[in-house]
Amino acid sequence: MTSQTDPAITIDLPLTREDPDLLKREITRGLLANPKTLPSKLFYDERGSTLFEQICELPEYYQTRTEHQLLTRWADEIVSISEAEELVELGSGAATKTRVLLDAMANVNQLHYFVPFDVDETIVRRVSEELVREYPGLHIHGVVGDFLVHLEHIPEGGKRLVVILGGTIGNLPALAAHEFLSSVNSEMAPGDYFLLGVQLITDRNRLEAAYNDQQGITAKFNKNIIRVLHNQFGSQSDSESFDHVARYNEADHRIEMWLCSREDQTLGIQDLDLTVHLKQGEEIRTEISTKYDRPLAEELLASSGFALVKWYSDPDSLIGLALAKKP
Ligand SMILES: C[S@@+](CC[C@H](N)C(=O)[O-])C[C@H]1O[C@@H](n2cnc3c(N)ncnc32)[C@H](O)[C@@H]1O
Repeated sequence: MTSQTDPAITIDLPLTREDPDLLKREITRGLLANPKTLPSKLFYDERGSTLFEQICELPEYYQTRTEHQLLTRWADEIVSISEAEELVELGSGAATKTRVLLDAMANVNQLHYFVPFDVDETIVRRVSEELVREYPGLHIHGVVGDFLVHLEHIPEGGKRLVVILGGTIGNLPALAAHEFLSSVNSEMAPGDYFLLGVQLITDRNRLEAAYNDQQGITAKFNKNIIRVLHNQFGSQSDSESFDHVARYNEADHRIEMWLCSREDQTLGIQDLDLTVHLKQGEEIRTEISTKYDRPLAEELLASSGFALVKWYSDPDSLIGLALAKKP
């Protein structure tokens, strides 16, 4: 099923069309595991996407503005090297930084096709409508899907640049990241380019502050997962019966976000026919955000079939942007 709002916009909806029970199985598996986990894509309903946009503006959240500055500095070169006519963004969210790449493509008359791919339908629709207004003549083919499952829905529209920004790759454990990028590689044609943004390993205090902001927006974002469970799957639990916890796991060089139960409670999820008991102080892991260094990023790219072409970083080595090619 494809839905059309404007002649320049096509929205493909594999998420709800194919295997609607996938998410239910993932939630059940995670809550029965030890430690208990929930899939991070569950954060992103309309409210979750808006909260993430607010996180990107926080003074403590250095990642977005650093990546934005790097893109601003290097977008022309990236577009010139890649000669891309189609930009595909996996986990596109609000596509704010993406505009820098779209501008660079438009400046050299290479901008024909944009593919925002995200699990949140509201944000794919909003971004598509904004961008056809901002870039006259641009064709948008949005995909509302899970990028671990629905990559074959990426349409063909010329020489491609596929991008993953915002540290999204860090939300996957090492093996899953490798499998994901290998699948991305299989969907690409030889000669297509890939731009991967990674958040780099840095000082623990800076990292932990970025996920424990003073205004409590990250806490609201984390607890939103409980609201999504309530709204979409009929769970009875209250998000305020959990505390937000974010800490750096040095051994696995990743920030972990957890929800810590404030009391002994029962999490009954009607639609999943699932009842989970939580003790006071027991935690559910909701997100990992793995930090990389250049060798780790290069190894991930090479093992997934990519050849590194350029590595860009900021003076404080906070963000890496790897431009790679499918040989
Ligand atoms: C960390 S945010 C990054 C957003 C944006 N790219 C940026 O740089 O600000 C991750 C984005 O990926 C999306 N996402 C997370 N898991 C996904 C999945 N499995 N499939 C598709 N999109 C996913 C989320 O909805 C969210 O918009």
